[in-house]
Amino acid sequence: MSCGFEENNLRDPLILGIESSCDDTAAAVIRGRELLSDEIISSAQIQAKFGGVVPEIASRAHTDAVSEVVARALAAANVKKEELNAVAVTYGAGLLGALLVGLSFAKGLAYALNIPLIAVNHIRGHLAAAYLEDKTLRPPFVTLLCSGGHTAVLYAKTETEFEVLGGTRDDAAGEAFDKVARVLSLPYPGGPHVEALAREGSPSVPLPRMLKGVGGYDFSYSGLKTAVINYVHNAEQRGESWSRADLACSFQHAALDILVEKTVQAAREKAVQTVTAGGGVVANGYLRERLQEECDRAGLRLVLPAKKRCTDNGAMIAAEGLIRYRAGEFSPLSVNASPSLPLRRSPI
Ligand code: KG4
Ligand code: ZN
Repeated sequence: MSCGFEENNLRDPLILGIESSCDDTAAAVIRGRELLSDEIISSAQIQAKFGGVVPEIASRAHTDAVSEVVARALAAANVKKEELNAVAVTYGAGLLGALLVGLSFAKGLAYALNIPLIAVNHIRGHLAAAYLEDKTLRPPFVTLLCSGGHTAVLYAKTETEFEVLGGTRDDAAGEAFDKVARVLSLPYPGGPHVEALAREGSPSVPLPRMLKGVGGYDFSYSGLKTAVINYVHNAEQRGESWSRADLACSFQHAALDILVEKTVQAAREKAVQTVTAGGGVVANGYLRERLQEECDRAGLRLVLPAKKRCTDNGAMIAAEGLIRYRAGEFSPLSVNASPSLPLRRSPI
């Protein structure tokens, strides 16, 4: 494929990143590791009426938003599309119709501009977000990856190679926040609402804690979720009053403390100096504080993406695109969306 790479083999290329895997249509421009713009149009408010993401509504919202969000990202970066060196776009995992909107748009742009297309694994994008936060960040490091679909501790050996040290055996942490939010009659997406409610409570409700020594770096959230549901049912059946804020706070501690412990433990075992994190749950203030405290205590450097770049965004896709660009790994225009792309699969 003629992709113009030979002419554009730059150390600090201008890359447009496009993300449309779920309910956010996002685009960003980077020059090397410098973030020039980061725009988002979200359909979360529309989805909230349905209590979750309705795939057809998401696809339609992306179709309405994609041109606009890309135009905004280019304008905010003060960059003309003709100046771009590559287009990076999420091709999986995610909702098929939603992915196809961003992917088709990116293909059209790459073809028209005769520049490389870089198909990005969404979850690798969450991992790459930290590179934009601190330009001195270099592997090796340990990463906590925590989103609506994934919960894992990774050891990043190089920018392109990593080892999954452990992951969730059932629900992802974000999924648990969303389910507990429903039990507490909080709107979608649950995480930020549970966090806000938890700030008004204390961790006084006894909930099961995941066993520290068991399962290496694996996690399990189904028991905790069931315990929250049972607590509410039992209290209501007995006619006892209970505090929503205390339950939210207790759940938040039980769900997040173990992530912090296992991440720091992994950093010690791998003898790295640096810890990073990514994914929507890392926008949680309590998790960020606890990670900072424990990394300080262990003498580890912590690099956290800004909250806005923990939840889905275009900048993280551009950041992973940069890694692929420097490795000379481009995608053919025939690349298809991959709704259940696993974390481990190397990109196209
Ligand atoms: O990374 P993300 O935006 O999308 C996926 O790739 O899944 O993560 C979304 C998840 C949702 O489950 C949402 O409830 C959770 O991240 N989340 C939070 C917070 N903000 C988003 N969970 C806890 N606290 C938050 N502040
Ligand atoms: Zn995500």
